[in-house]
Amino acid sequence: MSKTALITGVTGQDGSYLSEFLLEKGYDVHGIIRRSSVDFRERIAHLEGHPHFHLHYGHMGDSMSLIKVVDKVRPDEIYNLAAQSHVQVSFDSPEFTADVDATGVLRVLEAVRACHLEKTCRIYQASTSELYGKVEEVPQNENTPFHPYSPYAVAKLYGYWIVKEYREAYDMFCCSGILFNHESERRGETFVTRKITLAVARISQGLQDCLYLGNLDSLRDWGYAKDYVECMWLILQNDKPEDFVIATGVQHSVREFTELAFRHAGIELKFEGKGIDEKGICVKGPEKLVGKTLVAVSKDFYRPTDVVNLWGDPTKAKAKLGWDPAKTSFEQLVKLMVEHDIAKVASEGAAAKVRTNLAEYLEKGIVK
Ligand code: GDD
Repeated sequence: MSKTALITGVTGQDGSYLSEFLLEKGYDVHGIIRRSSVDFRERIAHLEGHPHFHLHYGHMGDSMSLIKVVDKVRPDEIYNLAAQSHVQVSFDSPEFTADVDATGVLRVLEAVRACHLEKTCRIYQASTSELYGKVEEVPQNENTPFHPYSPYAVAKLYGYWIVKEYREAYDMFCCSGILFNHESERRGETFVTRKITLAVARISQGLQDCLYLGNLDSLRDWGYAKDYVECMWLILQNDKPEDFVIATGVQHSVREFTELAFRHAGIELKFEGKGIDEKGICVKGPEKLVGKTLVAVSKDFYRPTDVVNLWGDPTKAKAKLGWDPAKTSFEQLVKLMVEHDIAKVASEGAAAKVRTNLAEYLEKGIVK
C-alpha cells in the first residue's frame, strides 16, 4: 500500500522538491494551496496532471479549511512547510507572520486531533536555525539555547514548542527539522543568494548596473534545498519522534557568496571600503565592466536586528538518520544557481529586469 502525504506550502521551494521526492518514492502526494486570482504555481506546474499529485484549497489562518483537507486526505504524513518565511518581511507584517508561522502550526496539530489521526499520522514541522538568532554558541546543535531575534523567529519558536508539547501531551509523532539556510535555483528572488545569482546573470548580460545588498559580513551555513527535503522524510521514518539540526557544517559570508557567484560568470571583484561605504569593483572580466562598481551596500537592506553567525552541526542527523550533509558543496550550489540564472535571464531578455525590480520593491516594502 502506498503512503499518503499532505504538504502545506507545496508551492514553495521546499514543497516542490519534496513533492518530487515523495512521488518518486511512490507516495500519493496532496498539497494545500491558497485561493488567489494570481498564479503562483510555477514551481509545481510540471507536477500538475501527475496521477498521484493532488491539490486542495486551504489556508493556514483558517482551521476549518485545514480540518476539511486533513479529513478528506487522511494522510500518513504531514509536512508543514507553509510559512511567511522572509525574515525582513516579518518586521513589516509581524501579526500576519505570527498567525501563519505560530498559530498555523497549532491549527495543523489540532486538525489532526479533530480527525482522530493523532495515533497514525506523523507530522514534520519546518523549524529554523533562526531560533538561535543572537547566537549563544558556535556551531549550533540540538542542545544550543535559542535566542530568537526577529518577529519571524519568535513565531517559529512557538511552532517548535507547540510541536514538542503535543508530542509529550498526546504522544503524537511530531518533530521539528531545525533547518539552516537552504537554497536552489527555485529560491524566492528576495532571499540573498538568489538575489545575488540573478543580479550576476543580469549584470553580465547588460541588464543591471549594480547589485545593492545589506550586511555583507553576515555568516550563513548554506545547503542545497533538494538535499534537505530528503532529510525531512528521514526524520519521519525514524523509529521515534525527535528534532534534528539539518545543516552542512560549513559557513560562509554574504561577501564570499557574492565573490564566488561573480567569478562563475567570469567577473573578478575586489571589495574596498567598510560598512555602508563598502563596494565591490570589477577588476577582471568583460572590458565594459572593468573598473565599475558592481556591488554596493544600501541601508534599505539592513534589518532592525540581524542574525549574523549561523553555523550548524549536523552530527546527530548524520549518525541517526544516515543523512549526508556534504552531498552538494557550497561551490557546486553557487555554480548551479548562477548557471541556471544566466540561462533564465538570457531566455527572458528585458522581462528579467522588470521582474527583478519588482523583487527589489517587495524586499524594500515599496508599493509601485
Ligand atoms: N534578503 C537579503 N537581501 N538578505 C541580505 C541582503 C539583501 O540584500 N544583504 C545582506 N543580507 C543578509 C541578511 O541580513 C541575512 O543576515 C542574510 O543575508 C541571509 O538573508 P536571507 O537570504 O534573507 O535569509 P535568512 O537567513 O534571513 O532566512 C532564511 O533562512 C532561514 C533559515 O536559517 C529564510 O529562508 C528563513 O525562512 C529560514 O528560516
